[in-house]
Amino acid sequence: MKENKTAVVTGAGKGIGKTIAIGLAKLGYNTILVGRNKQNLENAAQEIGSNAKVLQLDITDRPAVKEAIAKIVSEKGGIDILVNNAGIYFDGSVDLPDEEFEKMLKTNLTAQFSLLKEVVPVMKAQKSGYIFNVASRAGKVGFAGGGAYSASKFGLVGLSESLYRELNPLGIKVTALCPGWVNTDMAYDAGTPLESEEMIQPEDLFKTIEWLLQLSPAACVKEVVLESPKSIS
Ligand SMILES: NC(=O)c1ccc[n+]([C@@H]2O[C@H](COP(=O)([O-])OP(=O)(O)OC[C@H]3O[C@@H](n4cnc5c(N)ncnc54)[C@H](OP(=O)(O)O)[C@@H]3O)[C@@H](O)[C@H]2O)c1
Repeated sequence: MKENKTAVVTGAGKGIGKTIAIGLAKLGYNTILVGRNKQNLENAAQEIGSNAKVLQLDITDRPAVKEAIAKIVSEKGGIDILVNNAGIYFDGSVDLPDEEFEKMLKTNLTAQFSLLKEVVPVMKAQKSGYIFNVASRAGKVGFAGGGAYSASKFGLVGLSESLYRELNPLGIKVTALCPGWVNTDMAYDAGTPLESEEMIQPEDLFKTIEWLLQLSPAACVKEVVLESPKSIS
């Protein structure tokens, strides 16, 4: 029997992932902060304190993902929450070179598949767990000039919904989170037309997770779409 529950959060060095990692650690989860930028991860871990562990990992590195998840399971005894949050954005649809389209899918979809491939069997053996897949409103609605990103996020929503149907009967919950513009570096880099206070805040994503974790075992939520009034069209 494990003493403490373990949460793995990808892209935890900044933005939405950092806020979720801080929130889960405050709820008492031993929180593993995954990302490539070690300094960002260490800064976030320092804010959290003893509940945090840094795991420098490129989620597109398939063998490294396999090894990392196995190590976490052997050290912590299992994984209670996976937050598949890491992702990238750049503009472009069919104007993109093939390699750029492939990079988008590799980072925003294939890497999540790799993590799920390792974590789902662990949760099946536990007969418990919660998987949050941070997709996007762009995974529900396509938009001009963002075809590659939307394709990757529609893919993640589809994978998440399939796992929702497969795993909920086994006691493992799965929810896709689909926010519109969120007030992080990614939104500014992508050229958001919104002011910071007009955007969804990273804390809203953590509060959504906190709410979902409080629901009774029979209450399953497939996806949560968060929109800000200025970006609904
Ligand atoms: N901001 C928005 O408007 C918005 C809206 C809807 C959905 N989202 C989604 O929300 C998630 C978080 O985005 P954010 O807004 O917090 O963006 P962000 O501030 O740019 O953070 C992205 C995170 O992903 C990590 N990451 C990227 N590639 C990685 C890789 N190959 N391996 C490991 N980590 C990687 C980055 O860490 P390292 O650089 O350290 O690796 C970083 O921590 C993304 O999936 C994004 O698509 C964002």
